[in-house]
Amino acid sequence: MSETLENLSSETRQFPPPEALAADANVKADAYEAANADRLAFWAEQADRLTWAKKWDQVLDWSNPPFAKWFIGGELNIAYNCVDRHVEAGQGEKVAIHWEGEPGDTRTITYAELLTLVSQAANTLTDLGITAGDRVAIYMPMIPEAAVAMLACARVGATHSVVFGGFSVDALSTRIKDADAKLVITADGGYRRGKPSALKPTVDEAVAQCPSIENVLVVRRTGQDVAWTDKDKWWHETVEQASPEHKAQPFDSEHPLFILYTSGTTGKPKGILHTTGGYLTQASYTQWAVFDLKPETDVYWCTADIGWVTGHSYIVYGPLSNGATQVMYEGTPDTPGRDRFWQIVDKYKVSILYTAPTLIRTMMKWGDDIPAGYDLSSLRILGSVGEPINPEAWMWYRENIGRERTPIVDTWWQTETGSMMISPLPGVTATKPGSAMTPLPGISADVVDDTAQSVPNGGGGFLVLRDPWPSMLRTIWGDDKRFIDTYWSRFGAGAESSSAGASSDWIYFAGDGAKKDEDGALWLLGRVDDVMLISGHNISTTEVESALVSHPSVAESAVVGATDPTTGQAIVAFVIPRGNVDTEGEAGEKLNVDLRNHVAKTLGPIAKPRQIMLVPELPKTRSGKIMRRLLKDVAENRSLGDVTTLQDSAVMDLISKGMGGSK
Ligand code: WT7
Repeated sequence: MSETLENLSSETRQFPPPEALAADANVKADAYEAANADRLAFWAEQADRLTWAKKWDQVLDWSNPPFAKWFIGGELNIAYNCVDRHVEAGQGEKVAIHWEGEPGDTRTITYAELLTLVSQAANTLTDLGITAGDRVAIYMPMIPEAAVAMLACARVGATHSVVFGGFSVDALSTRIKDADAKLVITADGGYRRGKPSALKPTVDEAVAQCPSIENVLVVRRTGQDVAWTDKDKWWHETVEQASPEHKAQPFDSEHPLFILYTSGTTGKPKGILHTTGGYLTQASYTQWAVFDLKPETDVYWCTADIGWVTGHSYIVYGPLSNGATQVMYEGTPDTPGRDRFWQIVDKYKVSILYTAPTLIRTMMKWGDDIPAGYDLSSLRILGSVGEPINPEAWMWYRENIGRERTPIVDTWWQTETGSMMISPLPGVTATKPGSAMTPLPGISADVVDDTAQSVPNGGGGFLVLRDPWPSMLRTIWGDDKRFIDTYWSRFGAGAESSSAGASSDWIYFAGDGAKKDEDGALWLLGRVDDVMLISGHNISTTEVESALVSHPSVAESAVVGATDPTTGQAIVAFVIPRGNVDTEGEAGEKLNVDLRNHVAKTLGPIAKPRQIMLVPELPKTRSGKIMRRLLKDVAENRSLGDVTTLQDSAVMDLISKGMGGSK
């Protein structure tokens, strides 16, 4: 990419924190000052939130960049920090997890019960020959045993590799092989869309190709028939019979905690490695700071799946290390009805809700009257993660879910960063709809141009992270070279053009485009691979999508750059109309023209789409990200590339069929 991004849209709406919330907030503006004055002292103070068996000697070792070590010499046990210490502090009767199964069955698990379960599971892992450093694959539905399995691994020092329960045999076996895992923890199945969905047959097929697997531990959730092999052990015949006494041993601060694979756009998945002390420090601090978590009174709910990093950091390690009470939900948002989320918020009096833009836009499409039917007055903080949130989706979230009372925290981070990096603080920041605002205290994010120069306010370019942070990935599992090539070779000391300067010159390239507005607030513009080059101008897909979503007839949109003989690339937009909008015949044609003009008016003529297609659905990955690559194939009349990571494979048929009438 030869030019940096054009800065097209501007947003003037701004929402200061509610006064009462600001007055009582966990974190005030002085946190930024403290971190700026002494970043390492700031993180050392946050590490003190945890219980260390042995205190560290040194906060950061960055003598061998880009390989960081945090809290060197320190020792701690993660499960002890997430469970035992709350029980020891007299919180044993406090609810850790309100679990809601999709069919409506429920379980309430206190911290004391969680300690029993995790201890039993840890004893079983030891019985099955798992020792510190071994890798364990976890392939589970959203049931409490998934969190228990992760914590039990952490307790005995085994490195877990959670594989999303929707992934195929191929995805599972590739990940097992890459990590050389010895054990798989799974279930017969889980409930999705009103019926049992099997997991065990996928595991059976994968394990048949993976000789490293010695045992398979199976939770009975659905009661479906399962095939059985010598390697299989029922959870209820092992874990639930095991001793509930287990003494957690401390591990080194840099002991590997988990591997989580990110697919990226090309090549084999990258095993992102996270370690112990730094990871838990930042996950725990951000959970408390960004959600203003009051563990005594809040009921927290993160709607992610534990198969994603959001589930690792903000269902398991962040909330539990803080002793929070949380809701965990097994199923889909539309089962049995499209009101399921609001029913759950109302039932458990959820006060902090953390979800994704894709879900917010889906709820928008389903209509305002669905949440309107529920008492959502318990909510006091709303969070968003996973993609840029369009300003209009942000406003919808604020008005229809937050009822104009609750701050929204739009949190930017990645599997690689381990925890949140850029976000408002709910008691401090005056938020702007669609902006993740500023780096959190202790984090140095910046936007740079091609030559790694910081762009001035009003400019756009590449998002980078300048200083190491505690929960940063340590490497790509088994591939240090790929780690350096992928994240550290674009800018700074790792770049080819660099004359290798000081260790402080290493710059992490996040792969996202971003801009700074006139006040220096950060706006994330999507992956740089998705940026379009129109007549020599770099234009972000995110901005054009947000312009489309700001039209009252649009629920959701995806924009791609398609090859064009005159302009190099031209903008092609796929648009899902809102539920009540007429798109038949002339009405559809008029809407099409209106939308193109609307974008030109909002962003300028350069951003006017060449073509708009009205479609019923968009292709998304299983984590809810739009697969623009496939839409580009459609826009350029190519046959479709790899569709294996699509959430719903029928969607592309719908889109291709729908295209005829709406060109
Ligand atoms: C990519 C990382 C972080 C947990 C879920 C995704 C995009 C994430 C935001 C946000 C704009 C965002 C970025 C990032 N992203 N959060 N608040 N605003 N973009 O983890 O699968 O590793 O994806 O998600 O493009 O690089 P992931």
